[in-house]
Amino acid sequence: MPRVFKALEIEKEEKEIKRDYLDRHMPHVICQDKVRRGEKFAVKVKMGDDYPHPDDHDHYITLIQLWNRETLLAEARYTAGVYGNLPSNVEVEFYIVAPDVSMNLSAMAVCTKHGLWQSEDKAVQVM
Ligand SMILES: [Fe+2]
Repeated sequence: MPRVFKALEIEKEEKEIKRDYLDRHMPHVICQDKVRRGEKFAVKVKMGDDYPHPDDHDHYITLIQLWNRETLLAEARYTAGVYGNLPSNVEVEFYIVAPDVSMNLSAMAVCTKHGLWQSEDKAVQVM
C-alpha cells in the first residue's frame, strides 16, 4: 500500500517549508456547492495553485481520480508530454449527474515520482 499524502494531515510547519512541493502535487476539487437532483454538472480537478508540476518523461502527473466518499466516479490518465514537456497545473473536468443524496467529493492524483495525493473533501448539497 503506498503512502497517501493528505491535505489535512500535513502539519502547518511542514507546509511552510515545502510549500512549492506540496502545492504542485495537491489536487483540488472545484465545483458548485449546491446542485439539483438529476442535474448534470461539471467538477473540475486542478493540480496545485501557485506552483506548476513538471511534465518530464520520467516525472509527470499520470492519474487523476474523482471520488464520492468510497466510490470511484471517474478517472483521467495522462502520458508524459501531454503538456508539451512544460511545467503546468494539470486540470480535468468531469461531468456527473447529481444523485438523490448529497455528496462528499474528493480527488486522488498520482505523480510518477512523488506518489499518491489526496485532496480536501468538497461537500456538495443535492436539493
Ligand atoms: Fe512530482
